[in-house]
Amino acid sequence: MTLTMDCTLTKLSDHTGIEVRGVDLARPIDDALGARLNRAFSEHSVLVIRDQQLSSHQLLAAVQLFGEVFPQQDKKFSLPECPLIHYVSNQDSYPDGTRYIPGAGYHTDHSNAAAPPKATVLHAVKLPDRGGDTQYVNMHRAYEDLPASMRHRIDGLRAIHVYQSRHSARKLMTLSEENRTAVPDAVLHPLVRTHPETGRKAIYLNPIRIEGIAGMPEADALTLLDQLLEHARQPQYEYRHQWRPGDLVMWDNRCLLHKANGDYDMTQVRYLYRIMLQGDVPV
Ligand SMILES: [Fe+2]
Repeated sequence: MTLTMDCTLTKLSDHTGIEVRGVDLARPIDDALGARLNRAFSEHSVLVIRDQQLSSHQLLAAVQLFGEVFPQQDKKFSLPECPLIHYVSNQDSYPDGTRYIPGAGYHTDHSNAAAPPKATVLHAVKLPDRGGDTQYVNMHRAYEDLPASMRHRIDGLRAIHVYQSRHSARKLMTLSEENRTAVPDAVLHPLVRTHPETGRKAIYLNPIRIEGIAGMPEADALTLLDQLLEHARQPQYEYRHQWRPGDLVMWDNRCLLHKANGDYDMTQVRYLYRIMLQGDVPV
């Protein structure tokens, strides 16, 4: 049976983020509410649904309201009981023993795919007492505020995305041979992309994965990319999410950068479920 839920939506900043209360994603969601939540997501880019208590299987079922699952490239973090759900944890280390904090440094997820995921969903299972916020910057706003000369310069440029850029400051976990074969070598995506649902343009950057810009000398490309990132990182484009127990957060990879913060007490466990949703080829 589908229950009518009395939900409230509250903006979290003037440009990014909307909080949803009064929804239980473990129950069936009727079409009207589903449409309302999807609309809120495309208009506000980060959907924060409070007070959820979802098992991995319930989360997998719930996210189908928003799209189809995008398989992750590195299966190492797959949950054995529900492999389409991965986990994000502060309890893993690189082979050299240093702690691995997934998602540190601004990026957008899996942009080295020909059709990158439109959204990523995290559901908090265990959180530290404080810290571990996720920061977002709104790349629509960042684009719209660029001087016209810069917008003209970057409109039409295409960036080269690879699994791991040799220019990236953050190192990803090395892929196993089996996972590596499923990941494309390099793809070209527009540096300015148009959101398929809202028609708004956004700078489509990814310092972890962009190796260069097609047809541009490397030094010029790196300077331009740094300049755009510096611009986008300004506080007026940011929404900083402070996690609460029960949060389910879904963000739009097409128009946001995001980063994790490893600024909390590492003796405390931080553990979240993670799943991504299929997106389009960027245009
Ligand atoms: Fe990420």
